Order: sequence, then structure tokens, then C-alpha cells
Amino acid sequence: MSFERNIKIAPSILSADFADFGREIRAVEAQGADWVHVDVMDGHFVPNLTFGPPAVKAFRPHVSGFMDVHLMIAPVDPYIEAYAEAGADLITAHVESGPHPHRTLQAIRATGKKAGLALNPGTPLEAVEYVLDLCDLVLVMTVNPGFGGQKFIHSQLDKAARLRGMIGDRPIHIQVDGGIDPNTAPLVAKAGADVLVAGSAVFRGGTVETAEVYGENIRAIRDAAVAAAG
Ligand code: DX5
Ligand code: ZN
Repeated sequence: MSFERNIKIAPSILSADFADFGREIRAVEAQGADWVHVDVMDGHFVPNLTFGPPAVKAFRPHVSGFMDVHLMIAPVDPYIEAYAEAGADLITAHVESGPHPHRTLQAIRATGKKAGLALNPGTPLEAVEYVLDLCDLVLVMTVNPGFGGQKFIHSQLDKAARLRGMIGDRPIHIQVDGGIDPNTAPLVAKAGADVLVAGSAVFRGGTVETAEVYGENIRAIRDAAVAAAG
């Protein structure tokens, strides 16, 4: 897939109906999602539990596009291969999940998948500086990971903007995750983010039966971001 810095909307299925993932995934893709974002939580690195590799493998046939797997687990290295085999296109690990992010990124790339590195709101940007060339994506968390529906943390805008400068011309995506809606989308787009994860702001007000609402929600986020990105 060639690199493009245009705005991409990645609905997080953490806000989908947990009894109906196949249809929910197909519905958001039909309604304009660019990527599908899967939040993996271990009840240890973050205070919540979600999807093991078999669940992600079950999602895969329903995703016709790009499946973005966000691992909020520690340790992370022992599970990289399993999530790669489950069908992730991109695997993002947290820089805080272990002492060797360089090794973690190498391990992800060794599976043939794209590699992402995530920064919690309290983690300084410098944590990615010397591993940037191993990254296809850097995720700037705009909430503390663990739950959907939290309030956007504005101090992360400066981090995203500085990251944009650090990346320069390199083909590395800037992803933001947490509290993204039509009000915050312009702010992150202006700061230089190109992949916007949104859970509650995509799924709110709709169901698989009324999936056009997902489409309206995705369009509202995208339009607000594109207008600000210029
Ligand atoms: C938070 C997750 C997010 C979450 C975003 O730990 O990484 O992907 O689903 O949810 P919203 O968009 O509702 O803040
Ligand atoms: Zn996420």
C-alpha cells in the first residue's frame, strides 16, 4: 500500500455491539471507514480486558480493508506473532509496555506487518526519537488508554505537532486516539495527524440496522478534519 498523508478515519470497534462484530465491521466499512481499529487490552497494562488473538482472527474475514490492531498489553513481545497470524495489517505496541521498544518494533516488522508505536499522554515525545525509522505509524494517545468515551486531553496537540516536525518527509503516519469527534478532529488535523481513531463518536446514535448514522458520524469527523488540514 503506498503512503498517503490524507485524512483517514479509523472507527474503534470497542464502541460496537459486542454480540455482533461481523456486521458492525461490515457496516462501518460500507459507511466510509478507511481503517478498522481493534483495541486489545489485558487488564494489566490497562484496567480493562478485550480481545485475544482468536477474537481478532474471527474479525479478519469481515474486514475488507486495513485492520489496525492497537495492543495495550504488557509484556507485548510474546504476543506479536499471534496477532500477526490473526490477520492484523498493522500492529501498534506501547512504548511504555516494556524496556525494549526497538526490539519490539523489529519483532513486528519481522512478521511482515506494519509497525506502530504508541505514546501515553504522560510520555514525552523523545521516547520515539531514536526508533522513528522502525515505525510506520506513531500513535499519540489523546486519552489515557483503557476505555472509550473519555475526554480529549488538549496538551497532546503540542506533542502531535512536534512529532509532525520530527517526521518531516518520512512515510510515517501520525495517529490520534481518544476523544476524537467533530470538535476535536480539526485540532488534531491541524497539528498534523492523518489517522483519526474514533469509537463513541462513530457508533453513537446508530445500530447495524440504522448504519447510515455511522456514515453521517464518519462524514462529520472527516469533513471537520479535512477543512482544518487544508
Ligand atoms: C482507548 C482506546 C480507543 C477508544 C477510543 O483506550 O485505545 O481506541 O476506543 O474511544 P473514544 O473515541 O470513544 O474516545
Ligand atoms: Zn485504540
